[in-house]
Amino acid sequence: MVLNQLTITRPDDFHLHLRNGASLKAVLPFTMKQFGRALIMPNLSPPVTNIIEVWAYHREIMDAFISEEVIFQPLMTIYLTDSTTPKDIEEVKRSGFVLATKLYPVNATTNSAHGVTDIKKLAPVFEKMAEVGLILCIHGETLVSEEFGDVTRNGQVGQLRRESVFIKETLSWIVETFPTLKVVLEHITTGEAVDFVINAREGVSATITAHHLLATLDDALGSHHYKCMPVLKEENHRQVLLAAATSGNPRFFAGTDSAPHAKSKKETACGCAGCFTALHAIELYATAFEEMGAIDNLEGFLSHFGADFYGLERNQKTLTIKREEWIIPTEVPFGEGEVLVPFWGGKTLSWKVDWKSCLFLMFTKHSKMKNNQNLYPHKGCRFLILKNSIKYYFYQYIYRIIIVKLSIHIFWSM
Ligand code: NCD
Ligand code: ZN
Repeated sequence: MVLNQLTITRPDDFHLHLRNGASLKAVLPFTMKQFGRALIMPNLSPPVTNIIEVWAYHREIMDAFISEEVIFQPLMTIYLTDSTTPKDIEEVKRSGFVLATKLYPVNATTNSAHGVTDIKKLAPVFEKMAEVGLILCIHGETLVSEEFGDVTRNGQVGQLRRESVFIKETLSWIVETFPTLKVVLEHITTGEAVDFVINAREGVSATITAHHLLATLDDALGSHHYKCMPVLKEENHRQVLLAAATSGNPRFFAGTDSAPHAKSKKETACGCAGCFTALHAIELYATAFEEMGAIDNLEGFLSHFGADFYGLERNQKTLTIKREEWIIPTEVPFGEGEVLVPFWGGKTLSWKVDWKSCLFLMFTKHSKMKNNQNLYPHKGCRFLILKNSIKYYFYQYIYRIIIVKLSIHIFWSM
């Protein structure tokens, strides 16, 4: 019998880029419409590296809500750098406000220039994370390797092999050295990653994007709009990813990695990497699951396994999708005169989120949210923010005095 309608627990997106300013306001409603929660990536420019910045970013997201009554909850992350310390991790954990840290190897992707140059040097940070129970989300790609890189190219690792080299050289080390650290290998793209996650110890999971389930390297070679990090791989890898995502194995769950970039920034000589899928993420995943005849396993992947892994309650509300043909728009506004090109823009999809269930969810009063401690900084965190702000302004003040005195000195000695 053909299934024409499916109602599932409201899903969560465990890997989302919202950006900030006008761009944030343009893309956030799409995620709020379909998801109960989303894990917000910290790779802004400059990145979100400490508790004060996370708090400010969280505030900005909350202020961009279209209604106070929405039940969407942004889950926050911080960006690890070479200078992150175990003390930072303690502060972040104490705030009760941040769910995970994000590890970007330096220059691996968009806004990763402040990423980590020598991952093994962060051992004390990982140890502290394991101790306090903070999850490590990883962009798993190695750009340069003595052992696995191309000798003829100064040890650079080709794009198609970056994930598997990372698994061999770095991920295995992290997973073995910190046996209680919970780790998510983000946006996996290869058979090697699937094998690693299936066979790893407890506490190792992976997110899978809709675009890696639906498109391949051939698409990326044909259009800027398929450019993303890690790059799309060949069909054999896509098949392994599809099998993993639809298998019902709770180690694999949804993280869209929806990464909006203005059309003008994608359609240039070396366009920005990132596919925008927040608009139609659920429908895209449904399409992939249907391709495998596994629509029954969609709910676990979208709504249960991620929440369980992160130790969160599953969402209470539901979301309905219906069998209905619609054409993905080729452009959507992206603030300040810019537009975005959604992944697969112009194609026809045969599943559609039922807007009635979204509107209901978005505008119903939800008293629980108002009392939800996770949404607003704890007392302890407020104190920390106050303390750090005073410290920050004090240093700013001293710094300004020094600059003024120095300028006067230089001026008079000229
Ligand atoms: C992401 C972005 O644009 O922020 N880009 C991407 O291609 N996925 C960063 C990332 O997750 O790698
Ligand atoms: Zn991402």
